[in-house]
Amino acid sequence: MKKVITYGSFDLFHEGHYNLLKRAKELGDYLIVGITTEQFDESRGKLNIVDSLIDRIEHVKETGFADLIIIEDHLGQKVEDIQKYGVDIFTLGSDWEGKYDYLKELCEVVYLERTKNVSSTMLRREKYPLIRLGMIGTGRIAARFAPETHFVSGIVLNSVYNPYRKQAEKFAVRYGLELYSGEISEFLEHIDAVYIASPHETHYEYAKQALLMGKHVLCEKPMTLKEEEARELFRIAEERNCVLLEAIKTAFCPGFQRLLSIAKSGSIGQICDVEACFTRLTGENTRERTDKAYGGSFLEFGSQTLLPIFKLMGTEYKEIRFDSICDKNGIDLYTKAYLSYENGMALSKSGVAVKSEGQLLISGTKGYILAESPWWLTQSFEVRYEDPNKKDTYTAKFLGDGLRYEISDFVNMIHAGEYKSYKFTEEEAIAMAGVMEKFLQKRKGN
Ligand code: CTP
Repeated sequence: MKKVITYGSFDLFHEGHYNLLKRAKELGDYLIVGITTEQFDESRGKLNIVDSLIDRIEHVKETGFADLIIIEDHLGQKVEDIQKYGVDIFTLGSDWEGKYDYLKELCEVVYLERTKNVSSTMLRREKYPLIRLGMIGTGRIAARFAPETHFVSGIVLNSVYNPYRKQAEKFAVRYGLELYSGEISEFLEHIDAVYIASPHETHYEYAKQALLMGKHVLCEKPMTLKEEEARELFRIAEERNCVLLEAIKTAFCPGFQRLLSIAKSGSIGQICDVEACFTRLTGENTRERTDKAYGGSFLEFGSQTLLPIFKLMGTEYKEIRFDSICDKNGIDLYTKAYLSYENGMALSKSGVAVKSEGQLLISGTKGYILAESPWWLTQSFEVRYEDPNKKDTYTAKFLGDGLRYEISDFVNMIHAGEYKSYKFTEEEAIAMAGVMEKFLQKRKGN
């Protein structure tokens, strides 16, 4: 019996997939079809798969060509499968020509001609009109964000706004954007969604204006500096049927998601304490060190360190207390925020002029999780126990600057008409704004 194997995402099942499977089956007597998981697709940079794995399996099954359907979930699996199932022929469409020649050591490799003028990418575009994204602000994070948009299908960054029109123009030229503007309502007219990357204190006004015009909003952290403002923005977003998402990139990274699920799985028992630290030394003349109203370490990095705390301990803390080392101008150079909970405690450390170990430590009744710096770009973490010989290490892929994950979630939410994110919830965003407000009140008081 001649065994044939082929792989694919088979998203939005189309004629090209059907033809490929038909011809693959004709190459032998028994056809095995490997279908990718969302996580595997994500790890190889294929974001925005529309159909669920179950639906994609169902569509392949319906063709009647597959004798066996398997799931492909990791790199290197093809080599394993070929040996495991005793495969004679490995086949894929001609778009992969040459790419899998290394498998010739194990079996015959056949590239079948691809059906013209159809692809999942094309169908995704037809199903969901391209989201035109505009960017407010042209600073450091904006420069990192722009290239990341290219990795997510369904969205195109087409314009940029800066009240200083010249800056907007410079940015647009540099990143090849169609439009730029120094006038906010004109800028908002030409887009469907906006990414806000302007100074902290301007987020609220821009977000409000965009939402009132029915634009989806992805807003850099901290989204607002007052709890009531965050509540108001979510209210408007709901009224206008818009997505409002705070861009805390770590929250959307696959590795961080994994860390949260392991932490909540019971493997370290009941979680009692979360300590998160993020410090980055910045020059004396930077905004972080000179902006008396909105600079400082906590406003800069506090959202980052509060994220795992809220995710694991919740937003219902009993008390929060801050200790800071401040510069002569009153700006906090280093801040510790202590949170106490009914059943535990948490600590956030942030610094712009004090360097510390940037780690995330989650302590439980049976063990603890340690994610070392840079835990916010979660690529690996360890679960450790009383017995030092017992240790589990987890690794995850983190692509590029990692901003593509939040962009991808933003796009998926818009497409699905699902305006709530479980990865960073409305409740968490509001609580985060509440902490920022308390911190600013305290700093002002000082
Ligand atoms: N395929 C084909 N003809 C097409 C599209 C896909 O023969 N017009 C083949 C691919 O070469 C592959 C299999 O179908 O062997 C599954 O491909 P997949 O990547 O799932 O489909 P695409 O439509 O290429 O998806 P995308 O646009 O997301 O890359």
